[in-house]
Amino acid sequence: MKPANTNSTPISIDGKTFNIRSGDDPEMLEQIKSLDDQYIGIHYPLTMEQLKAIAHKDGLLIALHQNKLAGYSLILFEPIDKQHSFASDEAMLYGTTVKKEFRHLGLGSALATMQEIKAKNKGIKKLKLTVRPENAAAVLMRLKNNFQINDFESNYFGDESPRFVMEKNIIESSEKPAKPVNHRASLALTPDQKPSQTTLTMLAMAFSVGMKVQAYYPESDQVIRLLLG
Ligand SMILES: CC(C)(COP(=O)(O)OP(=O)(O)OC[C@H]1O[C@@H](n2cnc3c(N)ncnc32)[C@H](O)[C@@H]1OP(=O)(O)O)[C@@H](O)C(=O)NCCC(=O)NCCS
Repeated sequence: MKPANTNSTPISIDGKTFNIRSGDDPEMLEQIKSLDDQYIGIHYPLTMEQLKAIAHKDGLLIALHQNKLAGYSLILFEPIDKQHSFASDEAMLYGTTVKKEFRHLGLGSALATMQEIKAKNKGIKKLKLTVRPENAAAVLMRLKNNFQINDFESNYFGDESPRFVMEKNIIESSEKPAKPVNHRASLALTPDQKPSQTTLTMLAMAFSVGMKVQAYYPESDQVIRLLLG
């Protein structure tokens, strides 16, 4: 297999410089795996073999601050196990984590944007991702980055845990944007709090009858309100 390209791109956010690069050096992969285990792997584990395979297929971006890991982002250009399926002109964002001390600076969004540019250059037309509904920080980051919540699946990965399926078309389309529909329901998500059974049931019902998230807004520092119609 070809070694991953290790050229790095410096970006400056809030007076801090981050170097963004790909790479597959074993020591860095160990650090990324342990960061992933802490936040994402506890819900859906990533094996070292899968991480290596993603890195070798150009799906890993690493953010370094003063030569130390600050965050990473993973994208799949092809499925890595039978739980994921997507078309050949689609790619799946597979997890982004930013170390606590570097959050709220825009680094997570910057990593996602760089993955998006890479995907566009490979001819990818649509990005997909799944996210737990209680992970409101990630839901809001993706909504801010123009992803739409297109589905809600109660058992997407077969782990009995619900996921939003979020998607973004990344090629310019000549289609007119759909007319906004009046919302018929609304519900609130709170970061790091498991949604109530009522909220989960309501989401499942709304998506099963073809309702979509039409709009959202941060209701307070702690609550995101989704409008469904
Ligand atoms: C989700 C995560 C990657 C966001 O990283 P980040 O670098 O802090 O994100 P950004 O600074 O780019 O945030 C972009 C927007 O997302 C929203 N957001 C991010 N964190 C939030 C939080 N804790 N609560 C509410 N909104 C949040 C905000 O709208 C923010 O924009 P603003 O700063 O202008 O208000 C980070 O919280 C993280 O590493 N979480 C643990 C791992 C994880 O769950 N990853 C997602 C799985 S895919």
